[in-house]
Amino acid sequence: MTPEQQTRGRERELAELSTPVTHVVSPQRSVWDYSPAPETTKAAIADRYGLFINGDFVTPRSRKHFASINPATEETISEIAEANADDVDAAVKAAKAAAPRWAKIDPRERAKYIFRIARRIQERSRELAVLESTDGGKPIAESRDIDIPLAAQHFFYHAGWADKLRFAFAGAQPKPIGVCGQIIPWNFPLLMAAWKLAPALACGNTCVLKPAETTSLTALRLAEILQEIDLPPGVVNIITGAGATGAALVNHPHVRKIAFTGSTEVGKIIAKACASTDKRLTLELGGKSPNIIFDDASIDQAIEGIIQGIYFNQGHVCCAGSRLFVQESILDEVIAKLTHRMKALRVGDPLDKNTDIGAINSKAQLATIHRFLEAGSGEGAQLHEVNTSTLPNRGYWCRPCFFTNVQPSHTIAREEIFGPVLSVMSFRTPEEALLRANNTPYGLAAGVWSDKGSKIFDIARKLKAGVVWCNTYNRFDAASPFGGFKESGFGREGGLQGLKAYVEL
Ligand code: NAI
Ligand code: MG
Repeated sequence: MTPEQQTRGRERELAELSTPVTHVVSPQRSVWDYSPAPETTKAAIADRYGLFINGDFVTPRSRKHFASINPATEETISEIAEANADDVDAAVKAAKAAAPRWAKIDPRERAKYIFRIARRIQERSRELAVLESTDGGKPIAESRDIDIPLAAQHFFYHAGWADKLRFAFAGAQPKPIGVCGQIIPWNFPLLMAAWKLAPALACGNTCVLKPAETTSLTALRLAEILQEIDLPPGVVNIITGAGATGAALVNHPHVRKIAFTGSTEVGKIIAKACASTDKRLTLELGGKSPNIIFDDASIDQAIEGIIQGIYFNQGHVCCAGSRLFVQESILDEVIAKLTHRMKALRVGDPLDKNTDIGAINSKAQLATIHRFLEAGSGEGAQLHEVNTSTLPNRGYWCRPCFFTNVQPSHTIAREEIFGPVLSVMSFRTPEEALLRANNTPYGLAAGVWSDKGSKIFDIARKLKAGVVWCNTYNRFDAASPFGGFKESGFGREGGLQGLKAYVEL
């Protein structure tokens, strides 16, 4: 093909993309649409849950409960116990009492408990997926194929380490730290619980875990699993509640280590609280990750990567590729193809297997996203609302969208939105792409798309980010360490590096 023919072919392709999608008309129906594909597995949910302390579900000393809402229907699905400082104290005491025996148990036996947790998660995986999607709003396709399998994988992986720690830290005698306080967010509830608990247990520590207040149900189901596999009482305690509960855990004098995943704002509060103590701390905080598309990339593949990067889990992802940098020569093509692809995304019922984008996790998060949408338009960026999914009458929804004409100084180019909103910017040279990508207070993740290996390695090396994905995005593995630089936090989770946070050397 001559270059002229190539250009003409490309122009024709783009023209086809920008003509409106015309639906095939059947005699009975005006448009073709998917039939509903509802998930049929049922997950029982109790009216009320207690706290999981010392191997039992107990009534909170606070006598208080709060509602857990299904964000797709706004219905209250259960009442969750709100742990106060006394409850936190009881949980930490149980963990402290259980610590010496758990630390001394033969590591091969410890591994067996962790393997059993992993297997039980697999056996109950469909139920856990339904629960996760009902409580948190994420599409069942994601909770079923990503969250739950990865949660099991983290327990499998770390079970394997339990009796091999001497080899992980050659020449040292790794010892447990003691009681670990672990506070997790609402975007990957069970997966984050697994990320925190699995390495801590493998290294012989005991735990007090606090799930996020909008998504407690899968952690409480995990507590049932811990009972089923006969984990010794007190080794894992799960206390529910909001920020005050988390703060009481952070400030408890018998907690030896805090692991936190959540907002940078709360991370800073926790860092201050731990600064005057000898508590160890790891923080996994927010991000504003760049996804860079060079003109020599495979564009169709990159489009899927952009979608996966920002619209996965409604954009509630700390490493979301929320700043898209596209080389100027392919900007029009990328925008046209992205627009075309986004029209096909289906927003709606999280329990429908065809859903791509589920419900926004909470009313508060939806309000935050709306504030960013207003700020973007207000500061002069152009909003493209290209998806026209019909939204359910109730629930918290946001169609996927993107902004162009974004300046680096705009709020939407600097701050974490945590929603299905992408900021598109362009660049001319690799140097400019790097400068702009690294111009952020965060440093959690990044993506690079190019068919040229040497370019990928050069750029990846110079990006200041904990994880750099090359020609892919949002891939996770228990063996691969995850964590950030700068305001994205410190410490690593997963892999050999992640074990370090849970041992005394
Ligand atoms: P958050 O940081 O308040 O919540 C995360 C966890 O911290 C929850 O379990 C919460 O109960 C707990 N927590 C809150 N205040 C605490 C305190 N003072 N001491 C100890 N624990 C405390 O996040 P939030 O308010 O739900 O979301 C706000 C924004 O934070 C989001 O819009 C998003 O930008 C960001 N975020 C980032 C996450 C990440 O994975 N990096 C996860 C969740 C939110
Ligand atoms: Mg909920």
